[in-house]
Amino acid sequence: MCGIVGYVGSRSAQEVLVRGLRRLEYRGYDSAGVAVAHNGAVAVTKAEGKLDRLVGRLEEAPLPGRAGIGHTRWATHGVPSDRNAHPHRDTTGDFVVVHNGIVENFRALRDELEASGVEFRSETDTEVLAHLVAAHYDGDLKEAVRHAIARASGAYALVAMTAREPGRIVAARMISPLVVGLGRGETFLASDIPAVLDYTRRFLIVEDGEIADVTRDGAAIETIDGDPVERSPITAEWDAAAVEKGGFDHFMLKEIHEQPEVIRRTLGARMQDEVALDGLSWVEGHPSEVARIWITACGTAYHAGLVGRVLFERLARIPAEVAYAHELRYGHPLIGERSLSLAISQSGETADTLAAARLARHHGARLLALTNVVGSSLAREADDVLYIWAGPEISVASTKAYIAMLVGQSLLALWLGRARGVLSASEERKLAAELSGLPAKAASILERLDGPRRVAEHLAGAGSIYFIGRGLDHATAMEGALKLKEISYIHAEAMPAGELKHGTLALVTEGTPVVAVVTQQEVHSKMLLGLQEVKARRATVIAVAYEDDEEIGLVADHVLRIPRTADPFSPILAAIPLQLLAYHVARHLGRDIDQPRNLAKSVTVE
Ligand code: M6R
Repeated sequence: MCGIVGYVGSRSAQEVLVRGLRRLEYRGYDSAGVAVAHNGAVAVTKAEGKLDRLVGRLEEAPLPGRAGIGHTRWATHGVPSDRNAHPHRDTTGDFVVVHNGIVENFRALRDELEASGVEFRSETDTEVLAHLVAAHYDGDLKEAVRHAIARASGAYALVAMTAREPGRIVAARMISPLVVGLGRGETFLASDIPAVLDYTRRFLIVEDGEIADVTRDGAAIETIDGDPVERSPITAEWDAAAVEKGGFDHFMLKEIHEQPEVIRRTLGARMQDEVALDGLSWVEGHPSEVARIWITACGTAYHAGLVGRVLFERLARIPAEVAYAHELRYGHPLIGERSLSLAISQSGETADTLAAARLARHHGARLLALTNVVGSSLAREADDVLYIWAGPEISVASTKAYIAMLVGQSLLALWLGRARGVLSASEERKLAAELSGLPAKAASILERLDGPRRVAEHLAGAGSIYFIGRGLDHATAMEGALKLKEISYIHAEAMPAGELKHGTLALVTEGTPVVAVVTQQEVHSKMLLGLQEVKARRATVIAVAYEDDEEIGLVADHVLRIPRTADPFSPILAAIPLQLLAYHVARHLGRDIDQPRNLAKSVTVE
């Protein structure tokens, strides 16, 4: 949570920081602030609310200076307010810090500092770090930061600056992500690569337990114990255009429309006549040693895992479990040495997913990461990485990364099925051909935008919406409900269709919207029967179904059509009309689609 940016060079620091924060705003938007060093002092401007409020204040009173730090906040300790906005200062005003994550022992540290006479100005855990850095300062900011972080436990990233050493910024990574961007005569710091893509594509990844000492000439990295670290820069593949809206009203809509191309990219060179996985050295070497797959993830990535579980069991006959990462961590799972832990995360930085993946490894499982972000914590910790190549996903509501996660798992399931002798070469080729046809089919769904838009008008006034499906369609229903909730704020609940009559049907009355995903042929007739029961209560049924399914038209009030494909892959197509439905409902209601209230893109705290 929260976005951090830093700059030292010859440009206006304020400009670089604001532009970087704009790109990081998806990480939190409860408040924003910047601190800029100039003429032997550090000036701070901050504002509760979206970045534009800060920009308004900076327009009225610009901050001159060529070095500074900035922050966009997702509140953990203390309500969103000007007072709790970062950067935070020490009592002299010479030291400023921004911070992403949580200082777990902040209460004890705060008590200790207050007992020594320090007066706190905010309710945040971050402020203790400003006072600790100041208290330990003896002419060297790096040493002061080193001492401060030795006192503070938790998962966080810290960036500090002082008026006494202008032109120097010191950052520390204690789990939460941090990168250094390298320019000519200028250096950048950020939580995430897209923040400074306008200025550079060369990055140093700061690893856990490392300190980066940043000046305009570059960055020296060392461990928390003071051992120097040699690190080669990486070159970011993404360009600045990939993080712009490109003519769409919202990032979410742009990302939905990118999906055909994303499917193509995820399949990429991995799909010839048969599936070839790139760089999965352990999995490729030991396909028959995998006795069980433990999938772990949160949110939308968890819904992708629900699909993956079925694919691995159905196509590769490998028993698979899927667990929310935050539950797996404390659930005493029976993960054994012949387990493959598949951790799914768009960002590769979700704290719960990382912790669950580490737990699985601790139990002897091999860790396979399915992620979008090259160099992310998850990617670096894993034995093998299957990148989904979705490109930067900016909208808080995940769309294209979800689709790419499904495609990635489909490839893996096919490969494992073949490698373990479950699928014949001809079965594999047939399914591989189906996968290759998906980009065009996804594109054809995006040509029929009218359906979701019209249905959305009916749904916008609803108090509650139910999403149902059986088997893989249940996973799609879960994702459809989450999408709708997070951006429209309408209550939605997903359940297996067969479960409705065991209680929830009591809530279904005349006009109650029920969204039914109906693609799985094995259970098609059962779905129709269930929908008759729902219709008998005069519910309004919206179905997502194949375009040649004539029977569904007899029970549903509205049908959102998708092209037919092999049932194991239908979730890849069926999610798209539901994403569009959520988008149009939210739009109809005038919601803040890309930055829904209370949420942030990557949840790097427990
Ligand atoms: O970066 P991750 O894939 O690990 O993120 C997991 C969830 O926080 C994320 O999918 C969240 O549920 C999205 N907002 C859903 O649209």
